[in-house]
Amino acid sequence: MNAGTAGEMRLVFLGPPGAGKGTQAKVLEERFGARQISTGDILRANVANGTPLGLKAQSFMDSGGLVPDDVMIGMIESELAKYDSFILDGFPRTVAQAQALDALLAKLKLPLTAVIQFDADRETLIARLTGRWTNPRTGRTYNSLFNPPLVAGIDDDDGGPLVQREDDTRDVVTARLATFDEKTAPLIAYYANSGLLVHVNALKSIDDVTSDILAALQTRPKASRA
Ligand code: AP5
Repeated sequence: MNAGTAGEMRLVFLGPPGAGKGTQAKVLEERFGARQISTGDILRANVANGTPLGLKAQSFMDSGGLVPDDVMIGMIESELAKYDSFILDGFPRTVAQAQALDALLAKLKLPLTAVIQFDADRETLIARLTGRWTNPRTGRTYNSLFNPPLVAGIDDDDGGPLVQREDDTRDVVTARLATFDEKTAPLIAYYANSGLLVHVNALKSIDDVTSDILAALQTRPKASRA
C-alpha cells in the first residue's frame, strides 16, 4: 500500500474497550483517507440529539451492554453504502453482526482487506478508559496518563473543552469488558480461519501500533471475505 492513498483499505478493528481502535482509526483516516465508521460515535451523536435511535440505544450504552443487533445492522448498512474504503471501528461486535456484515459486503462486492485484533491486558484498558478525555466536536481522544493535551481539559487543535465519556466510569468499564469477553471475543475465532485476522500488540506506543498495523497490511493475508 502506498502512503497517502487508501488503496483497498477496508478494515475491521476488533478489540476490547480502550485498546486504541478509535485512536488508530483516526490516524489511518487522516493518512489514507479511508473513512472511520465508529458505531459508538454514531450512537453517541444520536443520544446527544435525542433521536429515536438515540433513545433506544442509551440504556444499553449506559449499562455497558450492547445495542440490539437489528438496530446496529440497519445502521451499518446505510453507512457502508456511502464509502468504498473504510475502517469499521466497533462493528461487528457479535457473531450475528459479523454474519450480516459478510452478507452485506458480498452484495456490495467490497471484500475486507484485514481484521485487526488489538490485544491488551485489563489493567491497562481500565487505566486508559478512566483517563480518557475526548473532543466531542471531532472525536479526537487524549489520555491524562499516556497522551495528555498540552493544557489539561483543552483540545490542542481547536482550543475547545474536552469531556469525559459517561460510560468511562470504573463500574461501567468493568461491565463493558465483561460484555466484550462474552459477546465480541468469539469473533476472534470467527475470523481466525478467514486468513484475514492479524493480531497487534496494543500495549505499544500509539506510533508503534500504527507502524505494526501498516506492516501487517503490507504482508496482509491473501484471503478475502465478501
Ligand atoms: P464504542 O464507542 O465503540 O466503545 P468501545 O468499543 O468500548 O471502545 P472505546 O471507544 O472505549 O475504546 P477504543 O478501543 O476506541 O480506545 P481509544 O482509541 O479511544 O462503543 C460504546 C458503546 O456503544 C458500547 O458499549 C455499546 O453499548 C454501543 N455499541 C457500539 N457499537 C456497537 C455494536 N456494533 N453493537 C452493539 N452496541 C454497540 O483509546 C482509549 C484511551 O487510550 C484514549 O485516552 C487514548 O488516548 C489512549 N490510547 C490509545 N492508544 C494508546 C496507546 N497505544 N498507548 C497509550 N494510550 C493509548
